[in-house]
Amino acid sequence: MAKDPLHILHLEDDEEDYILIRDLLEDTDQQTYEIDWIPSFEDAKGKIALDGYDICLVDYMLGKYTGLEVLKYIREKNPHLPVIIFTGRGDDNIDIEAMNAGAADYLIKGQIDANILERSIRYAISHSRTLKQLIENEKSLRAAEQFALTGRVAQLIAHEVRNPLTNVKLALQQLQEEIQDKEEEHTSLFELIDRNCNRINQLITDLLDSTRFNQLNYENVSINNILDETVELARDRLELKKIKVQKSYRNDICVVHIDKEKMKIAFLNILINAIEEVPEGDGIIKLITEKRQDKCIAIISDNGKGIDPNALNRIFEPFFTGKKKGLGLGLTTTYNILLSHNGNLKVESEIGKGSSFIITLDFTSNK
Ligand SMILES: Nc1ncnc2c1ncn2[C@@H]1O[C@H](COP(=O)(O)OP(=O)(O)O)[C@@H](O)[C@H]1O
Ligand SMILES: [Mg+2]
Repeated sequence: MAKDPLHILHLEDDEEDYILIRDLLEDTDQQTYEIDWIPSFEDAKGKIALDGYDICLVDYMLGKYTGLEVLKYIREKNPHLPVIIFTGRGDDNIDIEAMNAGAADYLIKGQIDANILERSIRYAISHSRTLKQLIENEKSLRAAEQFALTGRVAQLIAHEVRNPLTNVKLALQQLQEEIQDKEEEHTSLFELIDRNCNRINQLITDLLDSTRFNQLNYENVSINNILDETVELARDRLELKKIKVQKSYRNDICVVHIDKEKMKIAFLNILINAIEEVPEGDGIIKLITEKRQDKCIAIISDNGKGIDPNALNRIFEPFFTGKKKGLGLGLTTTYNILLSHNGNLKVESEIGKGSSFIITLDFTSNK
């Protein structure tokens, strides 16, 4: 199968040198490249932060800038974009400086051929992807640990609050029995105490339910099927707000080994939030499924208000809500269900544009 082309951002002020690199890359058999050639650093600035490039090739003398200055800028704006520095003449000091500044390689134009260039690009991209993956894994692990801690604190608090709460309720019952001629005011005060005790108790139950790992009843299900059934559960709300649902599924089924009912709750919480956030009449919710190596990915995207960057780190916390009447346990429950399936949940959001919730589960072949 032909490999996807690699996208190269080539910063080079000398057209002949650009052509030299382009021709070398054209000589490579196994890989094709799409090169975006930009002769000036100023013109490149807008492109550097973009997500679409796999690698950046930088000439060491770029107008009045040195490759190291350009490299520093790229590191700040796009830390994961690998950079190879090219120079006309070798210089050991620059070589070391480039390495220390985070360059993936340092190549001398006259000394490279198609093979050397192809290999350098391939290794640079592979190392940067591995590093990115490691950082993501570390982040997920830390988030999961944080969540487990939240669960333990919730259990501790629940235990400590429930005991005195039971005493308050018992005392209340005794008082109600002992006071014979209750006045109306007493009765309403008793009711108020009772109602609030029940409310505290319910909050504790909800908190425990949303953070405690539950017993799972596993079965093999296609991820497309879970999304479809979740949409059916929300059909009334979708129609009421005239929301367009656009599905883009992988045709080859991606089967996951999960507790289907729990997973539907996890997906439904995300979908209901999306429904609540999109504009009336113009709402669009996209459901996407993908298969990447041994993972199944489901993405639920909306064109809602988006999530403030400060809130983004907190939306999985218990009782975090941005709504007047929200409880703030929906995404806590969702995150809990995904973690208990060894899955993951990531959110990308832009104010005014919308949000995407990205669910990752292990792909199952024959469990
Ligand atoms: N798709 C979304 N678009 C914008 N904000 C969202 C979205 N999903 C969740 N949020 C934010 O995250 C908060 C927490 O969500 P959740 O845990 O489901 O609790 P609740 O819906 O009860 O507020 C929401 O109140 C909202 O501010
Ligand atoms: Mg919610």
